[in-house]
Amino acid sequence: PGLATKFRDQFYVGTAVSARSLNTPSGAFAATVAHQFNALTAENAMKPALLQPQMGEWRWQDADAIVRFAEQHQMLMHGHTLVWHSQTPDWFFQNKQGEPADKATLYRRQEEYINAVVGRYKGRVHSWDVVNEAEDEGKGWRKSHWYNICGPEFMERAFRLAHAADPKAHLCYNDYNMHLPQKREFLVKLFKDYIKRGVPIHGVGLQGHVGLDYPSLDELEKTIVAMADLGLKVHITELDVDVLPAPWQLASADISTKFEYDKSLNPYVDGLPDAVNQQLSARYVELFKLFIKHQQHIGRVTFWGVGDGDSWKNNFPVPGRTNYPLLFDRNLKPKPAYNALVALKL
Ligand code: G3I
Repeated sequence: PGLATKFRDQFYVGTAVSARSLNTPSGAFAATVAHQFNALTAENAMKPALLQPQMGEWRWQDADAIVRFAEQHQMLMHGHTLVWHSQTPDWFFQNKQGEPADKATLYRRQEEYINAVVGRYKGRVHSWDVVNEAEDEGKGWRKSHWYNICGPEFMERAFRLAHAADPKAHLCYNDYNMHLPQKREFLVKLFKDYIKRGVPIHGVGLQGHVGLDYPSLDELEKTIVAMADLGLKVHITELDVDVLPAPWQLASADISTKFEYDKSLNPYVDGLPDAVNQQLSARYVELFKLFIKHQQHIGRVTFWGVGDGDSWKNNFPVPGRTNYPLLFDRNLKPKPAYNALVALKL
């Protein structure tokens, strides 16, 4: 029936795409997306570096195409991402001399950027990741250009600007490793204060970049519950399951020597062994059982890609890995994990 139909009564099921993949001549990619999913995110096309690579030079083409695709197929369009430390062009944070911009300049650019982007897609993009990854692994505010130049208020200001630009849009904070207790506590405290002071935040995106054995379901559940208790809608965003050793499980020497992988670091070049494929299915099943348990709080579960071949996980932390993190294989054929999810009792 397709994933979206399967989980129709639970949550939206989304994926992330590029305009290029939607356009692949066979049409197979676009057909899979339209059939399987009812929510869409641009994997890169709506990031500042791609929308406005040079000051005043806007490139809307890919983002427009993705939004149009969502409309043509009645999919919920999610915008990713307005304010981020990464994939934002250097000029954004600099003055004409190439020195760090001052606060007034950065705030002016922030306002112009959010007005232009959210304004352009007003009523068409249903929800936004207003701020992405502002917390640093449980250590508090990430010392990004945003934070260093503006202080922590850059974040609430972004939410207020986005709300003013499209008062009906559902506004989210999005981050990874949200299961970390210190990260959870930091953000719960922050959002509590936002809600008390009327800062327009409506949802939180838990990036689901997980592995076969991390994080624990327990810690993940604690974060889902903590955010839901604040009255925030919870979204699982960017879901994929890494079957290879995680970055912190590799020696830093292995990471820094570009691509000198020995087979032990890239063990599945010739295909994923059945046993690991089964582990992958089991992992997806236990994750979905948790999401289903909390379905009244979860708005959307979005995978970070469609087929294994296009996943960013083949290039992280170094290029050249052969990874299998998604539900469809390199020919877009459903994997056992897909079948296991479709067979779940609801
Ligand atoms: O656009 C250039 C292209 O011109 C060039 O030829 C090519 C050569 O490397 O690079 C292209 O840029 C790439 C870009 O994606 C667009 O495809 C970058 O190298 C590549 O590093 C970049 O990776 C993206 C990454 O964000 C950047 O941080 C991944 O595709 C994307 O999946 C990933 O997504 C992020 C989320 O936005 C936030 N959460 C984490 C997640 C995974 O890192």
